[in-house]
Amino acid sequence: MNILINGQSADSISVLDRGLQYGDGLFETMAVIDGACPFWNAHMQRLQQGCERLQLPVPESSLLQAEADALVRHEKRAVLKLILSRGEGGRGYRYPDPIQPSRIFIRHPWPDYPQQNRREGVHVRFCSTTLARQPALAGLKHLNRLEQVLARNEWQEAQIAEGLMLDENGNVIEGTMSNLFMVQNDILYTPDLSACGVAGIMRETILELARNADMAVRVTNITKDHLCEADEIFLTNSLIGIWPVNRLEGQTFAVGEISRRLQMLINRDYPRIYV
Ligand SMILES: Cc1ncc(COP(=O)(O)O)c(C=O)c1O
Repeated sequence: MNILINGQSADSISVLDRGLQYGDGLFETMAVIDGACPFWNAHMQRLQQGCERLQLPVPESSLLQAEADALVRHEKRAVLKLILSRGEGGRGYRYPDPIQPSRIFIRHPWPDYPQQNRREGVHVRFCSTTLARQPALAGLKHLNRLEQVLARNEWQEAQIAEGLMLDENGNVIEGTMSNLFMVQNDILYTPDLSACGVAGIMRETILELARNADMAVRVTNITKDHLCEADEIFLTNSLIGIWPVNRLEGQTFAVGEISRRLQMLINRDYPRIYV
């Protein structure tokens, strides 16, 4: 069985669960390699911060670890998704008392993205669906993903790997399933996520690696025009690692030195995942 719900092998949950009713909860999507999740601690830290922001009780870490182990310990390569919802109950939107969260672990096969995405880069477009500013939810991997659902269905062309989303003020924030970086004059830029966007685990990992390697790093607003002047652009998430962007709308970009260097540093610290 590839699903555990509150520790039990199962494949269905109550229609009254607040995850379904209101999107009231959080999720994590984790890479699995050789029976373990290499970014487990970072995922657990983001989950904990999300729980604090949403006033959700944090499940015991040993319990989460044991349930994850049960699903992935024999897996060479897989994806493990954890959904944590506020469970059932409450009058309307009001929290139930007590809150009894639902824990759902689902194991998926590793996605078969082409290897050339990492080596040669990908084609990307801009989406017209914007991200709403909401500082109370910004950064969190919460269950409300309708903006991404609308944005991802703006294009059907198989050669477009990702769409970029802007906020209402014209700042480029992230991809539909990834974070965004650009390089200009040897400075690494990534959008500020204090009003919207998901603070990705791979984004954090890359920011830390870049700072440790003494690269100049700026977390700031990035307009469309600024992005189009980039020397290099790349996308990140826990499953893709780093995908350089080689074409954005009609404009081409080289797969640059900094993108390559960061790919190498990720592969050094987290071997065999992004090959
Ligand atoms: C909207 C969005 N932003 C960013 C990310 C990157 O997050 P992570 O690096 O934690 O995988 C994802 C991952 O799925 C995402 O869906």
